[in-house]
Amino acid sequence: MMPDTTTLETKNASLSSHKSPITIGLLGLGTVGTGVYKLLARFPQTAISKIAVKNLDKQRSLSQIPPNTLTAHAEDVIKDPNIDIIVELIGGKEYPYQLIRQALESGKHVVTANKVVIAHYGPELFALAAEKGVNLFFEAAVAGGIPIVLPLKTSLAGNQIQQIAGILNGTTNYILTRMEQAGLDFQAALKEAQAKGFAEADPTADIEGHDAACKISILGSIAYNAYLPQPAVYTEGISNIGAADIEMARTFGYTIKLIALAKGCENNAVDLRVHPMLVPSEHPLAKVAYENNAIWVQGDAVGDVMFYGKGAGELPTASAVVGDILFMTQALQSGQSYLAGMDFSLPGQGSIRPIADTTNAYYIRLEAEDQPGVLGHLGQACGDHNVSLDAIMQKGTHPETKTATIVLLTHEVQEADLQAALKTMQAQSSTKRIHTVLRVFQP
Ligand code: HSE
Repeated sequence: MMPDTTTLETKNASLSSHKSPITIGLLGLGTVGTGVYKLLARFPQTAISKIAVKNLDKQRSLSQIPPNTLTAHAEDVIKDPNIDIIVELIGGKEYPYQLIRQALESGKHVVTANKVVIAHYGPELFALAAEKGVNLFFEAAVAGGIPIVLPLKTSLAGNQIQQIAGILNGTTNYILTRMEQAGLDFQAALKEAQAKGFAEADPTADIEGHDAACKISILGSIAYNAYLPQPAVYTEGISNIGAADIEMARTFGYTIKLIALAKGCENNAVDLRVHPMLVPSEHPLAKVAYENNAIWVQGDAVGDVMFYGKGAGELPTASAVVGDILFMTQALQSGQSYLAGMDFSLPGQGSIRPIADTTNAYYIRLEAEDQPGVLGHLGQACGDHNVSLDAIMQKGTHPETKTATIVLLTHEVQEADLQAALKTMQAQSSTKRIHTVLRVFQP
């Protein structure tokens, strides 16, 4: 049989027309940019030709950057006709979004580590990339060096994903680990995380769960094939967790972790949330310590798999960025351009199950007067709202306040019922303060 010459010629034409090496333009030369610069030096099939930086005069650890590579203007990089792939590593939201848009508009392929931009503008940018016949890759946007975006799109594509549960923020995991291991309170553990360079000077996005919410919005969108934007993710942070909660959780056989959850529900809805949870101490997620990240995926064919490693840092994040660059480079050098299916340019917003409709088991820690009948009142409040109790513990009496710490663990109940029971408990004169309400992770 004769070979299909049309296809061969087309392929050969695009092969020969494509120069080698593939030319890279970097936007940003901070921690991750520096790592990408170092790592790409191993690969002669790529060449960094321009780098946009905020401050041209800054002293840098990279001594070998050739003169005239640095520019203070991102447009110089985006508009350079010799550059094939733009690598956006600036961080932030609106400015990098504009730059990525411009790059795609100019027909450049883009690699980004920017979870905020992908979580907020993903579908629009992927649609633009498809229209222009170029790729937008973002492996590093979720859990830094851990490969999860590509495995979810490719290796796990044969599964219906039942559940994804991730420890997607290293700062909060470091804080919770130190609270658990050294008995530190939240503020002391946060200070330590900041001193070690994990937490930002303003750590709000980490400790209030917004960083993890961006990441689970991306993973959920991929797993459930529907755009699930970050603002729709129900989000609670860890600043309310006390040393007493860590200790109580341990007594019951649990470890407290900030969990980002995406779970498929009936009618194609997705249960999507970020909040601290009591994780059974024997579960692999409970053993993920310090600044490490992990993503536990339950597929209907594969069963349970867990991805574990460094979710941030110079070389771990560069590893993911460079993986994307090399994947794209290989495609370009073999004459392919747009790789369909590598994005989530999805037709519409997916439906997210309201938190009130979710069911969970709960942990409640409260302070109540230490007097006859108090446990009975609490039990009554639960019973009146269909909340079935699994365990109750009262720990001593505080001599000054004459109050006792009481911990309730419930069976799996409806969130709306639990909230109603909490309202009733709060209204009881013997309840002094409901300190913490946490959900229990049920693998
Ligand atoms: N601030 C994030 C963390 C890393 O603490 O995990 C970047 O996503």
